Amino acid sequence: MIKLVKGFKDILPEEAGLWQHVEMLVRELLEDFGFAELRIPILEQTELFARSIGTSTDIVEKEMYTFIDRSGESLTLRPEATASVVRAYIEHRLYAKNPVRKLYTIGPMFRRERPQKGRYRQFYQINAEVFGLHDPRADAELILLLMTFMGRLELSGIVLHINSLGCPACRPRFKDALKSFLTGRSEQLCSDCLRRRDKNPLRIFDCKVPACKETMQDAPSILEHLCNTCQSHFEIVKTSLDRFQMPYQVNPRLVRGLDYYTRTTFEVLAETLGAQDAVAGGGRYDGLVKALGGPDQPGIGFAIGIDRLMALLAGRAQDFEKRPHIFIAAIGEQAQNIAFQWVQDLRRQRVRAEMDFENRSLKSQMRRADKLGVTYALIVGDRELDDGAAVLRNMTTKEQEKVSLQNVVTLVANRIRAEQSIH
Ligand code: HAM
Repeated sequence: MIKLVKGFKDILPEEAGLWQHVEMLVRELLEDFGFAELRIPILEQTELFARSIGTSTDIVEKEMYTFIDRSGESLTLRPEATASVVRAYIEHRLYAKNPVRKLYTIGPMFRRERPQKGRYRQFYQINAEVFGLHDPRADAELILLLMTFMGRLELSGIVLHINSLGCPACRPRFKDALKSFLTGRSEQLCSDCLRRRDKNPLRIFDCKVPACKETMQDAPSILEHLCNTCQSHFEIVKTSLDRFQMPYQVNPRLVRGLDYYTRTTFEVLAETLGAQDAVAGGGRYDGLVKALGGPDQPGIGFAIGIDRLMALLAGRAQDFEKRPHIFIAAIGEQAQNIAFQWVQDLRRQRVRAEMDFENRSLKSQMRRADKLGVTYALIVGDRELDDGAAVLRNMTTKEQEKVSLQNVVTLVANRIRAEQSIH
């Protein structure tokens, strides 16, 4: 049997209702905050990711699905969405009328990481990006949007970490401080980190090797190396969050795994997720649009990992399964033809109605109704046709009532609609 590719997964019908619900909620919220959807392709030129995410990041160094197309071009399955959104912002001159644009996109990303719980090679992200705003209140607003979403999902046990990574004026000073701290500590670093020390020392904060982690405990803090502008930017982000009573932890070790960040970075962590505990992450990337050939416009955004969100929502999938509302058990040719019509009429009224075409016994049809988990079963056979009334059975209370054949569709549709508005 041919099976799934390692690190890839199916989202089964039982789970899909919850995925749809989450996506609907987030679309609603993003649109209320002024975001418009942008749909971007899954494939881009490799260079786009190399230049934006950074050539010495894990993603670009070892996790991208890259191949040479028949035309000789190097293409990559997108490992994230920000680079593509920036490309589209530039390519379609989305800044022309007004540089301030708020864009969101939802879809799969691909990273060839070592698969484990909460870490897949194809995973899904909700991605939000804001262009053209320098004001630190924009950073706070975006974080508040993210946390509002988490709140609407009634997630508990999540914490918000924030940090500032400085700017091209002050980060080099911090990198130097970090390099001199690491000088003389070579024996305590893994071979990857030894390489990182010269090329990209900030990455060492992300290393999971215990010895490296321990060494970094005493490393200098970026927050003590920020220039005045970055410092006051960060202060306003924090006071704006305070103003809305948004709790957060300042985490000077939060460097993020992508190189385009400047100033504010943030992550939402959920302890219950175990090792892969980041549900969402993001930050400001003021130089990226320009670096990719666009105007000098700032940017800030975040991505939520939907797969991890689903792990936090586990157990709620059942509530969002779209089970049929009613099953019509029809016995005999004539009753089946009438039921066939009812099913179509009910669906036109947005009632999820099902029936069997297999002419099975009443008992086995009722078993099917039970399995489907319907709220109602409608029973119609020769006797009911003679009576001029079908039997409507409430599958929960087991109560039965007679419904005139003429009124079946209207009555059932009204009943189900009324019940839905109560829930
Ligand atoms: P990221 O931190 O690489 O940021 O990914 C964001 C989220 O995607 C993570 O917090 C996690 O929930 C989820 N995620 C990442 N990798 C995996 C994986 N292998 N399996 C399952 N879930 C995963 C970015 O991608 C940036 N583009 C975010 C951003 C947008 N920054 C500015 N704008």
